Amino acid sequence: MSQLVVMGNTRLKGEIRASGSKNSVLPILAATVMIEEPVVFKNVPELRDVQTMISILQQIGKTVSFENETVTIMPGEILVGNVPYELVRKMRASFNIIGPLAMICGWAKVGKPGGCNIGQRPVDFHLKGLEAFGFKITEEHGDVMAVIPQNFEKEIIYALPFPSVGATEQLMTTATLMEGSKVTIENAAREPEISDLQNFLNKCGAKVSGASTPTIKVTGVGKLNGAEYSVIPDRVEIGTYLLGAIATKGDIKVYGAIADHLIALLSILEEMGAGIEKSHEYLRAFWKGPLKPVRVSSEPYPGFPTDLQPIITAVLATVEGTSVLEENVFENRFGYVDELNRMGAKIKVSSSHANIRGVSKLSGAEVIAPDIRAGAALVMAGLAADGETIINNVTHLFRGYERFQEKLRTLGAKITLYPDEE
Ligand code: EPZ
Repeated sequence: MSQLVVMGNTRLKGEIRASGSKNSVLPILAATVMIEEPVVFKNVPELRDVQTMISILQQIGKTVSFENETVTIMPGEILVGNVPYELVRKMRASFNIIGPLAMICGWAKVGKPGGCNIGQRPVDFHLKGLEAFGFKITEEHGDVMAVIPQNFEKEIIYALPFPSVGATEQLMTTATLMEGSKVTIENAAREPEISDLQNFLNKCGAKVSGASTPTIKVTGVGKLNGAEYSVIPDRVEIGTYLLGAIATKGDIKVYGAIADHLIALLSILEEMGAGIEKSHEYLRAFWKGPLKPVRVSSEPYPGFPTDLQPIITAVLATVEGTSVLEENVFENRFGYVDELNRMGAKIKVSSSHANIRGVSKLSGAEVIAPDIRAGAALVMAGLAADGETIINNVTHLFRGYERFQEKLRTLGAKITLYPDEE
């Protein structure tokens, strides 16, 4: 198990460039299952999750190359309709393959993803949506089997019980090849990654509209053509570094950031009294002086992003007064709080609320990262704390943050990665 040793009392200062969005490129890569012509993607982050998705595409018959943040996908001779559980287990987003793969092969069998540290993470919205499209869905031995109908209804309307990002992406992608059908997805997620997916699909000849609103409409077409596409910057990565600047009383400019993707974060930071500067080229966050406690609720976009919830908690842990954080997207996303409390934080969790009583300073300790974003929160807390922090289970971090050590070192961090002792 890899360890990251982080020296404390560090102020992160300097300039970095945002990487391409992990949560945008993953559903876009899943959509390429339905494209039987060459596709080229630029600005693709070199992350383990991207590598996992590429392995899945290769497994089902695609020829894929990935270098210098460019992914080239050539159509495969034959596509096989099943994705083994060990690949789905590694990364939940691979379940977004099942609809597109069934559209091409007539059927698809994909391992059902398990839960993880932030919640049970079922896929019932995906499956109910595909059934509303007319798919026959069966489950056995931990696999889900999806079979397409002889023909699709002319008009299909499906309302998501919750604006699920993954279910919205799976359903809007699958519907693009339901030729002759008009599909309406209501209560759709509105994240920027949904708009990025819509823009890519339409560049390939699909007819999708409504992304960024709660209602997405798709008119099915017979075929998708190849395209070249560059994914949007990663708003969660950008938000992580902006929060890191404030957690460490530093000053960071992130080039390539899009302010419109982070409105909820920027307004909370301003409410707290942090310095913010927005330009067309970059977003900057800098320490201006003691911060004010706030009340934050994570919500589906355009609300405060759940993926930044652990990281803003690491900031609020040393803000004088009492802040309250409410998690409204996942049922179990406070696993990292015990670790922050080991560093001297005074945080009490009850159901979906965290009560954060600010302390003057955290102190370094040995901690365990339960997931990608909580890992990043512990790193930022360790950089700000007194002394040294050892973070275990940091392989999570490399799933979600491209060149994480390199960017942190550019900003002045003193960190050392210890590979497996065995
Ligand atoms: C995406 O996950 C992101 N991952 C997550 O980022 C992000 O936290 C999440 O959206 C919310 O913004 C990717 O895009 C690859 P959901 P996803 O479906 O699609 C429940 C990160 O660190 N739900 O919007 O899985 C679910 O349990 C990751 O980059 C069902 O009940 O999230 C959760 O409580 C973490 N049934 C809520 O909906 C379903 O069928 C939101 O989940 C689907 C979801």
